[in-house]
Amino acid sequence: MKNKVSIIGAGMTGATTAHWLAERELADLVLVDIVDGMPQGKALDLQESLPVIGKDVVVTGSNSFESTAGSDIVVITAGLPRKPGMSRDDLLSANAEIVGNSTRESLKYSPEAIIIVLTNPLDTMAYLAMKVGNLPPERIIGQAGILDSARMRAFVAMELGVSVENIHCYVLGGHGDDMVPLVRHSNVAGVPLAEILPADRLEAIVERTRKGGGEIVGLLKTGSAFYAPGAAVAQMVEAILKDKNLIVPTAAYMQGEYGLEDIFFGVPVQLGRQGVAKIIEYQLNEQEQEALKTSANGVKQTIAALESLVSF
Ligand code: NAI
Ligand code: 2OP
Repeated sequence: MKNKVSIIGAGMTGATTAHWLAERELADLVLVDIVDGMPQGKALDLQESLPVIGKDVVVTGSNSFESTAGSDIVVITAGLPRKPGMSRDDLLSANAEIVGNSTRESLKYSPEAIIIVLTNPLDTMAYLAMKVGNLPPERIIGQAGILDSARMRAFVAMELGVSVENIHCYVLGGHGDDMVPLVRHSNVAGVPLAEILPADRLEAIVERTRKGGGEIVGLLKTGSAFYAPGAAVAQMVEAILKDKNLIVPTAAYMQGEYGLEDIFFGVPVQLGRQGVAKIIEYQLNEQEQEALKTSANGVKQTIAALESLVSF
């Protein structure tokens, strides 16, 4: 039986996620959006591209959650993106309603689905989806860390002129400007970054990574990044559907790991067919622990703001 992946929100990230997924030929795809005709049009256009690249999946567009019935994975991208000057947290109240509704409606038709959340503020929206859907923590995952780490990898590759395949970077923490690029755990073909890059260049890369989302918003002016976020979701979907047990940084529900409780937070996670198979705990030094704590405090504040708006 073919896999089925539904993407809620057929805007920039939703449609781009569908594009990357169709290229991987992993599953039939459904795009759902509230805008009449738009998901249908994008789905048909994508379907018509597949003979060119030789991929056989069915892509459907819809304004109804009914079309998502029986999905293995639901990706929630529905919501507002940032405009210049806005933080991810500024999106909280508008997106809480959209993500809550998308979660409830998706689970009505696919009660066993694994949910991947992309909508910002990411960690808090993943938390909301888990609570609203009454989901076991392994079935709800937020996309942030693959994107943030890919940005760091891209910047290191640009600096050194080395293949991105040789560059391994790990960005943990909340998906905000306090995210924690773990320099000590990052390397180029096994050689620690600090041995390859001068301290000032490394610091510049860390800073650019933290502000990576804002850099794109500042350039685009009308929305936020979509190619890299979509590619990140596609990697997560592939890891799950192929039961790869791939270790990637993603936002997962904390139950004591890294000393954190009852928040979603970016940590290395082993992704397999059941979703989160395992959370990996790195040995962190005092400075790294402190940086994670600062980032976690930011996420806790946004969750507290959410709880003043919504009762679960
Ligand atoms: P977009 O505006 O291009 O698309 C969002 C789509 O959601 C729109 O087409 C809109 O009609 C739709 N929508 C709104 N309410 C809906 C509902 N109730 N049901 C179904 N569809 C609905 O925005 P974009 O660029 O796709 O970003 C979406 C979200 O993802 C934003 O919150 C953005 O901040 C976030 N994001 C998160 C990233 C991450 O790494 N976690 C990366 C990039 C974006
Ligand atoms: C990003 O980091 C907007 O969260 C999104 O690009």
